Amino acid sequence: MSPKDSKSLRSYRWYGPDDLRSFGHRSRAASMGCTQADYAGKPVIAILNTWSDINPCHSHLRERANDVKRGVWQAGGFPVEMPAFTLGETFQKPTTMMYRNLLAMEAEEMLRSYPADGCVLLGGCDKTTPALLMGAISMNLPAIYVPAGPMLRGNWHGEILGSGSDVSKYWAERRAGNIDLRDWMQIEDGIARSAGTCMTMGTASTMTSVAEVLGFSLPGASSIPAVDSNHAKMANRSGRRIVEMVCEDLKPRDILTDASFDNAIAAVLALGGSTNAVIHMLALAGRAGIKLELDRFDQFSKKTPLLANVRPSGKYLMEDFYYAGGLPAMLKALAPGLDLTCRTITGKTLGENISDAEIYNTDVIRALDKPVLESGGLAILRGNLAPNGAVIKASAIEPRLLKHTGRAIVFDSYDEMNARIDDPALDVDANSVLVLRNAGPKGAPGMPEWGNLPIPQKLLKDGIRDMVRISDARMSGTSYGACVLHVAPESFVGGPLALLKEGDIIELDVPARQLNMRVNEDELARRRAAWRPKEGIYPRGYGKLFMQHIKQADEGCDFDFLEGTAPIPEPEIH
Ligand code: FES
Repeated sequence: MSPKDSKSLRSYRWYGPDDLRSFGHRSRAASMGCTQADYAGKPVIAILNTWSDINPCHSHLRERANDVKRGVWQAGGFPVEMPAFTLGETFQKPTTMMYRNLLAMEAEEMLRSYPADGCVLLGGCDKTTPALLMGAISMNLPAIYVPAGPMLRGNWHGEILGSGSDVSKYWAERRAGNIDLRDWMQIEDGIARSAGTCMTMGTASTMTSVAEVLGFSLPGASSIPAVDSNHAKMANRSGRRIVEMVCEDLKPRDILTDASFDNAIAAVLALGGSTNAVIHMLALAGRAGIKLELDRFDQFSKKTPLLANVRPSGKYLMEDFYYAGGLPAMLKALAPGLDLTCRTITGKTLGENISDAEIYNTDVIRALDKPVLESGGLAILRGNLAPNGAVIKASAIEPRLLKHTGRAIVFDSYDEMNARIDDPALDVDANSVLVLRNAGPKGAPGMPEWGNLPIPQKLLKDGIRDMVRISDARMSGTSYGACVLHVAPESFVGGPLALLKEGDIIELDVPARQLNMRVNEDELARRRAAWRPKEGIYPRGYGKLFMQHIKQADEGCDFDFLEGTAPIPEPEIH
């Protein structure tokens, strides 16, 4: 960057002028051991790092931040690492979804309030990816996403274990009495063997893949296992590239278009990705000023094959997916269904990025004519139980349940469900439909991953492993089963789920995209008139803000005041 150009850098306002304020900035930079040779005239690259001692998925991100820094120095930039709120899926309660928008706000405001010319975002555990991207899209500075990468395959007695999916599977076997405590403890020790995110096609790998397809990461970045040396090299290259991007002034909203979102939807479906991607992508589009409707997912689902043979919709794990060629290879197979002209952070098009990709294992990444599933991986359901929509992952359920009629068993809360689910007196059979309400964005609150309701113990002992379950909650991307999720509007705000009574007949028809309760309109009107809203549980603080501004699942659960692209003034430097 020439001296003339360097004056156009955003950071010049902090470091450059001969005035009192800039004296303060430079003298305090000097107090940290920096000389003008470090930063004068150079792009300042903010590295937003969600590393924390309490987030196992990000435990390697301190080292990766150093890899990024090395790249920034190599390319003539000035790296500045800044810690950001970590959203650790396993430890954070009530749910990381409660805090996605808080990290998005933090990311945007950190970039705005400090002298950043561009940024590298380090995240990966489920909500960190959409949160960091939402903030970066709103701030609209050059940005690269460095995904944490999946952990290594799990292992138990030589059997491959997958995050989440095998936890649910073996927990059901333990409750059925088929494995004992010793087995269970061995599984606990073998299922998470390294740093990195869940290594099934859960929400983490789905969303880092979305980031890559939208054009925010270097080609192939999302598939590299966290502890592979290629992961460190990818971080280093990202550091080099972001400096170039600042010079090119290539910003998030320059690459995000209707077509790039369509590409990401197609990729999620071909990956057998998490249902959570629906909510996050609606929110990302809202930040970019792009109108994305829930039904767009259904339109693509009808024509997009499942190509990644990865759990929970397939057989393998992310490590296998990487060795088979990773996301670029799958995108190449999917290319006829993609818009290859979309721009990306490489400065090239998506088509150029994947032109050299190859599939090395055709069982892990299938060709278009040999898919795992022809189409229909996700379905958007509507009907008198979900007028604004609901989501089901049709690729991960027993086919006999795609069309199902059954009697509702209704739980008003998660605690009530836990108290009753294994009660021998519960009047439940394999045809029953389990319903959980007050588990949505406002109801839980925070829309936790409670949607994969447990199968009652007495049915497990009869060999039942799947049944229809309905809620306004979300479900972990690593889970499977006939779970209707994200019912909108949610029961807490008076959505039809609130009107359901135990014993009502529910009809699920996935091929027809219908979800209905067989209750006539007059009776529903009586129930609606009798319904009374509940009080929120937060008298003050972030929870109160959340309750006042969170939107429904079909709108992406962003805060209403964060959507859109209305310009916000740069901070005054006094
Ligand atoms: Fe972090 Fe699954 S717990 S990705």
